[in-house]
Amino acid sequence: MADNFNVRLDEVKYYTPDACCKEQSWIGDYNRTYQAFLADPDGFWDGIARELDWFQPWDRVKEWNYPYARWFLNGKLNITHNCLDRHAHSQRRNKVALMWRGEDEGDEQIYTYRQLHQAVCRFANGLKRLGVGKGDRVCIYMPVVPEQVIAMLACARIGAIHSVVFGGFGVNALNQRIRGIEAKVVITADVTYRRGKAIPLKNIVEEAVVSAPSVERIVILRRDTDKPVELHPEMEVDYYDLTEGVDRECPAEPMDAEDPLFILYTSGTTGSPKGIVHTCGGYTVGTYYTTKYVFDVKDSDVYWCTADPGWITGHSYGVYGPLLNGATCLIAEATPDYPDPGTWWNLIEEYGVTIFYTAPTAIRMFMRVGEEWPNRCNLSSLRVLGSVGEPLNPEAFEWYYRTIGKDRCPIVDTWWQTETGMHMLTTMIGEPMRPGFVGKPIPGVVADVVDMEGNSCPPGTGGLLVVKEPWPSMMRTVWNDDERYRKYWNTIPGCYTAADLAVKDKDGYIMVIGRSDDLIVVAGHNIGTAEVESALVSHEAVAEAAVIGKPDAMKGNVIKAFVILKDGRQPGDKLKNDLVYHVRMTLGPIAIPSEIEFVQSLPKTRSGKIMRRVLKAQELGMDPGDISTLEE
Ligand code: WT7
Repeated sequence: MADNFNVRLDEVKYYTPDACCKEQSWIGDYNRTYQAFLADPDGFWDGIARELDWFQPWDRVKEWNYPYARWFLNGKLNITHNCLDRHAHSQRRNKVALMWRGEDEGDEQIYTYRQLHQAVCRFANGLKRLGVGKGDRVCIYMPVVPEQVIAMLACARIGAIHSVVFGGFGVNALNQRIRGIEAKVVITADVTYRRGKAIPLKNIVEEAVVSAPSVERIVILRRDTDKPVELHPEMEVDYYDLTEGVDRECPAEPMDAEDPLFILYTSGTTGSPKGIVHTCGGYTVGTYYTTKYVFDVKDSDVYWCTADPGWITGHSYGVYGPLLNGATCLIAEATPDYPDPGTWWNLIEEYGVTIFYTAPTAIRMFMRVGEEWPNRCNLSSLRVLGSVGEPLNPEAFEWYYRTIGKDRCPIVDTWWQTETGMHMLTTMIGEPMRPGFVGKPIPGVVADVVDMEGNSCPPGTGGLLVVKEPWPSMMRTVWNDDERYRKYWNTIPGCYTAADLAVKDKDGYIMVIGRSDDLIVVAGHNIGTAEVESALVSHEAVAEAAVIGKPDAMKGNVIKAFVILKDGRQPGDKLKNDLVYHVRMTLGPIAIPSEIEFVQSLPKTRSGKIMRRVLKAQELGMDPGDISTLEE
């Protein structure tokens, strides 16, 4: 697999960006900081947590009762107090907190910390009017607009547990998530704009709540003011009507450090998606710390994370982490290549973005369309570049480094997961960067590449990426399914198993190769094979289906589906289109197969499990490995 990356372990090439970064960065000397952490792990996290405001201090930094951790025991805080009040009641009051840009140039909204504080308080009071309180679950299904961020923060303000669902998901995916958390309220918008077109969201919500009896109210942001959608008053309420006449102050609910902050669904390898649960204390400390030290956020920075807040990247590094640090953040409802591939570079120039965080799939798309697009813009404001979501292959690294960073900017390739909540591995600013390798564990994290018994793999030998000690922002459970939580810690004794394959070099730099389980990372999004298969099988013509990921130069992977039709059904292009459409409607556009092949049978184990790796090996002309469990 390492061949994919054209990296030879013996051919070492390091990049060392500006020497000055190191001296001026928050992290300073990585090795020294890491050693300080190892010498006193609890003291290390205690020091970081003290940089934040707490309503009541903790008694103990952590309690580790394998595989359950509690952090900052009996500490009381509210993440929004730290994201908003701390700045709105200080010198940062009139500093810009949030800048939003729509697809049209004229579409812009800017909130200072004071204004954002007020907007969040008002919407929080609106939610209270609907009877939403501490512990209630709220589903947020919105486009990237300021109100999406405000809705998240408003929930956190009053202790309601938000669960953001990416606006690109379809009816079934949304319904499954709403039912999973038993949401009391769903917050949505009439439309999302993409490539100049208005895509309706409200009708998807209407269908998704049909079999979700927990939902009492739907709050709708009406963006299209020319043709305002009609609201059904027994259930639906307008976003801004809800805040009509409310108080502009809403005290932040004192939350226990271990109270849940949010649930975010991520694809599982089998069965339904998993509702990953993050808590108030540890998540706040973990995202505050990593945003500050990995991106080196300073007061003068303009920070842009291109991820939709509907993903964990958007939660941790689009919303919470940067606001905890009092940064000026840009969010954009902008497709990278619409109206042309210069859109993002124009935004960087226009807003003077200094820290830019995006995904390899976007970088590879830009590589393909050519460097004339970024070269037309003045990108000299940039000082730190970030990457996340999938391996940053050396070609993409070099292009990003040269064409965007002009050989000046460090690239932080950050490895982490929905489950980890925060960055776990990267090459900290000032350290030599090795293309193809994410780097090392950040101070605060103990990670390694091990075999199935948990023994450390020697350099050059592939194994599983694991984390060996608890960390503050680790998930606490899987919503309503603690068994699945324990699995993460039970696969390899004593370790949290990330299900990623990795290899280390002799200096301890880690290369992440890809998933070891049945997840496909398509354009940086985690797609479960099981979800796509069950969507296909729900089509009346399909008897059975299996999907695999196929390496793709642009998206990292694309989905290929093998489909067995029911007797009497004729294969053909028309049916292929029907199936693609069906997946688009049920799961959403991110999960559609790029290729469908009709087959007579599928390779299965004797126990009836589809052996996707056999299909994959056939497809890619590779050795299928051990096939002793194969049926025939
Ligand atoms: C999986 C987690 C948390 C970020 C967004 C995705 C892959 C993530 C990297 C990276 C190589 C990466 C892994 C991981 N991944 N970052 N820098 N290099 N692979 O979050 O949906 O929870 O997916 O994304 O396979 O397990 P997620």
